[in-house]
Amino acid sequence: MILAVAPLVDMHVHLREPGGEHKETILTGTAAAVAGGFGAVACMPNTDPVLDSPELIERVCRAKAHCAVYPIACISIGQFGRRLTNFGLLRRAGAVAVSDDGKTVEDEDLMRFALLSAADHGLAVISHCEPETEICERDITLAEETNSRLHIAHVSLRSTVEVIRSAKKRGVHVTAETCPHYLLGSAHGAVNPPLASEEDRAALCAALKDDTIDVIASDHAPHTAAEKEADPSLCGFIGLETSVGAVLTALYHTRLMSAADIFRKMRETPAAILGIPVPQGEIVVDTDVPWTPQKFVSMSSNCAFTGVMLRGRVAVCQPTLLPD
Ligand code: DOR
Ligand code: ZN
Repeated sequence: MILAVAPLVDMHVHLREPGGEHKETILTGTAAAVAGGFGAVACMPNTDPVLDSPELIERVCRAKAHCAVYPIACISIGQFGRRLTNFGLLRRAGAVAVSDDGKTVEDEDLMRFALLSAADHGLAVISHCEPETEICERDITLAEETNSRLHIAHVSLRSTVEVIRSAKKRGVHVTAETCPHYLLGSAHGAVNPPLASEEDRAALCAALKDDTIDVIASDHAPHTAAEKEADPSLCGFIGLETSVGAVLTALYHTRLMSAADIFRKMRETPAAILGIPVPQGEIVVDTDVPWTPQKFVSMSSNCAFTGVMLRGRVAVCQPTLLPD
């Protein structure tokens, strides 16, 4: 089937600028985004320096890009987990959410203040949970206590799905995302959180279907081959160009979900969580074409699906860039 739909939103990518321009830049990362069907991305603040000041947020907003870029600011100064950044100033500078992604906010009191302050400023708090289920449970309790809104990043385990499902039943304002590499058993490589068991994979697919998990985001995390060789602890996958193919293979070709329901979790829902406009324009998706990722628009090639047969690909993406 050939589908013409509006461009997608990826609410969790690492564009590596500033400080990691040998892995990816805002310009090359957004070129990869467009190739993968995305008209808007939200980028994580674990750059060098980290995005903990209004000046750095403004710099990301002003950078030349091929699609809309919405920066996510740090929860804590330096991502050190000690003192909160100034959410009001960061929001005014253009931040759409706060996160210490890559690190867990260990201090429970700091996380409580983060949820309260973010609620005051209309920002989503995106939590990187390690250990996943334990911290997810802690943060849900805090969100419940403070009547605030929480988003759980890159869910990879069945036990975490169960915690989120029961919180939603109680009426807690929690949303969650998972990533394409957790949905296909053929994904390979090192990522944090790590690829888990077949049981976890099946639970994540079921959780997308029953809306326990709201969003699919790539966690596009480019690293060069040389760096990974020098430091094997560097993990993550590039994902912008393979997201649609992997997700269609895992959820559409298995008859678990319709294409419309899948794309809602890659467009309207993440846009609503971040409070950003849905991108305008058009993408053309060939839902059936088999292909094997090999070459990438991204500057890096650490892909979980290299050499893996996927079914479904974005043939054309023409996002409309709004004038600033
Ligand atoms: O695998 C990962 N890579 N997980 C993270 O949380 C951070 C990311 C990165 O920035 O490379
Ligand atoms: Zn991430």
